[in-house]
Amino acid sequence: MSSKLENPNSLLPDLERLPRHVAIIMDGNGRWAKKKLLNRVKGHEQGADTVRMIVRATRELGIPFLTLYAFSTENWQRPKTEVMALMALLKRFLVREKDEMLENGIRLSVIGQTERLPDDVQDAMRKTMEATAHGRRMTLTLALSYGGREELVRAVRAMGNRIAEGTLDPEMVDEAVISQHLYTAAMPDPDLMIRTSGEMRISNFLLWQLAYAEMAFTPTLWPDFTKEDYLNILRDFGNRERRFGKTGDQLDPG
Ligand code: IPE
Ligand code: IPE
Ligand code: MG
Repeated sequence: MSSKLENPNSLLPDLERLPRHVAIIMDGNGRWAKKKLLNRVKGHEQGADTVRMIVRATRELGIPFLTLYAFSTENWQRPKTEVMALMALLKRFLVREKDEMLENGIRLSVIGQTERLPDDVQDAMRKTMEATAHGRRMTLTLALSYGGREELVRAVRAMGNRIAEGTLDPEMVDEAVISQHLYTAAMPDPDLMIRTSGEMRISNFLLWQLAYAEMAFTPTLWPDFTKEDYLNILRDFGNRERRFGKTGDQLDPG
């Protein structure tokens, strides 16, 4: 047995036991700014730097799917100035990161009610998605104007329409069919969900898809979240036993 204390790489996560899909609720930008007596928007700006770092680190580790909760359906209720600032920041991110995404084989995807986003954000989104469509190393998904319940309503409606048209037999509706009608149809479910800022709730994120995800909560505010924090969570994930309803003995007999 190798001693963790002697192994200089022991701080790194076990590459064999990394999640395939990490989903993150990036929370705490506002409180970060408030603590520093800054405008909340400064917190979002600083948070964008954390996004860049996490995208890079995830890509370097070879994790193929990263999904970031950037704006929820509920976030439309925030003051108009903050919503506008978030949209401007989002557009800047989509434009500025395009080249690095292309160089690194990262494909951009977006889930949520994209039609509610301002036209210029939709344009930037479309351009970056088209330009990066051939990226094969990692899929970066931004959840924008995303809500898990809205996604389920939309899926039920789409299935209802298909049943009414006669192209879907209600007896054929199973878990796979429901998954295929969600925004995330092309992705595996997240193995690991991380939320920063100390809140321990899902806030309408990927309700269906998180059914068996491991959860990691950290009190660190998103702008303060470091690569080391991320690696620690990934290492901890590698040490967890995912039982999916079975007993520990069934997974590791003898
Ligand atoms: C997360 O930070 C970013 C978005 C929801 C867009 P918050 O803005 O929610 O930060 P807190 O929770 O107020 O600190
Ligand atoms: C969840 O954060 C949404 C995003 C991170 C985009 P919120 O800050 O909006 O969540 P609540 O309202 O505290 O649950
Ligand atoms: Mg918040």
